[in-house]
Amino acid sequence: MNNLTDDTNQTINIEIDLILDAIFQKYGYDFRNYSRAHVKRRLLHRLAGSHFKSLSQMQHEVLYDPSFFQEILKDLSINVTEMFRDPKFYLALRTEIIPLLKTYPFIKVWHAGCSTGEEVYSFAIVLKEEGLYDRVQIYATDFNRSVLDIAKKGIYPINRIKEFTANYQQAGGKQSFSDYYMADYNSVIFDQSLKKNIVFAEHNLVTDSVFAEVNIIICRNVLIYFNRELQNKVFTLFSESLINGGFLCLGSKETLQFSQNAGLYDVLNAYEKLYKKRII
Ligand SMILES: C[S@@+](CC[C@H](N)C(=O)[O-])C[C@H]1O[C@@H](n2cnc3c(N)ncnc32)[C@H](O)[C@@H]1O
Repeated sequence: MNNLTDDTNQTINIEIDLILDAIFQKYGYDFRNYSRAHVKRRLLHRLAGSHFKSLSQMQHEVLYDPSFFQEILKDLSINVTEMFRDPKFYLALRTEIIPLLKTYPFIKVWHAGCSTGEEVYSFAIVLKEEGLYDRVQIYATDFNRSVLDIAKKGIYPINRIKEFTANYQQAGGKQSFSDYYMADYNSVIFDQSLKKNIVFAEHNLVTDSVFAEVNIIICRNVLIYFNRELQNKVFTLFSESLINGGFLCLGSKETLQFSQNAGLYDVLNAYEKLYKKRII
C-alpha cells in the first residue's frame, strides 16, 4: 500500500467506508470496526482478481448481487482453522482449566467464531478424555452460515489427518486419535458421540446480544480482525455472558490486557491468555 499516493489512499478509504456502509445497510453485517488494514487488504485482493476498475464499481455489484456479497463475506471472514491448533493452548486448557471445571456439576461452553468446527471437536475430545463430556452443553457459533454447515457435519479432508494427529499428540491426547473418526476414501467423519452435546448456531459478535450464562468462552483468532473499539465491545459481551468465576480463553494471539474489561479478570496463564472472571 506504501506505493499508493496519499490522494489514492484517501479515495480508497472513502470507497471502503461506502462499501462497508452499503453492506451494513443492505445485509446487516457490520464490518465498519474491523481492522482497516485487514479489510483493505481483502477488498483490494478481490478487486485485483476481478474485472472491476474500482471499489466503487464493486460496491454496485455487492448491492445488486447477493451471491457476490457472499463472496465478499468469505473474503472478510477468514475461516482458516485446524484441529488442536496451537497444541500448547489445549495442553494448558487440560492442565489448568479442566481441574477447575471438574468442580462444577454442569458446564456450559461457548466457542465464539468457531469456523468449520475443528476447534469445537478438539475441545470436545479433551472434555471426553477428562470425563466431563456428559455434563457439558457446548454452544458453537459463527456469523457465517456456510462454515457452520461444514461444522455440523464434522467431515474433513483425510489429507489433514496427519497434521491433526500430530497436534492432538502434542496437546496431551490420551488415546489414539483415530478412535474419534471413521475414514473413507478421501474424508473422515467425527464420531457421533462427540456431537451429541454440541449446538452449532449463527451468532454475530458485533450485532447480536449476550449469550446464555456460560462457564467458559473460547474465542481464538477472531478478535485480531477487529479494531480496539470493537474488541472492547466484544469483551464486554463476553464479560456479560460469563458467570462469576468463569473462564475466558483467548490463545496467544489476542489479549485482554488493553481492554477496559481487564480489571474484571485474574490472569491464569499469561502466554495462552487464559483468564478467570473475578467473583464480585
Ligand atoms: C480464523 S477463524 C478462527 C477459527 C477458530 N476459532 C480457530 O482459532 O481456529 C475466524 C472466524 O471468526 C468468524 N467471525 C468473524 N467475524 C465474526 C463475527 N462478527 N461474529 C462471529 N464470528 C465471526 C469467521 O467467520 C471465522 O470463521
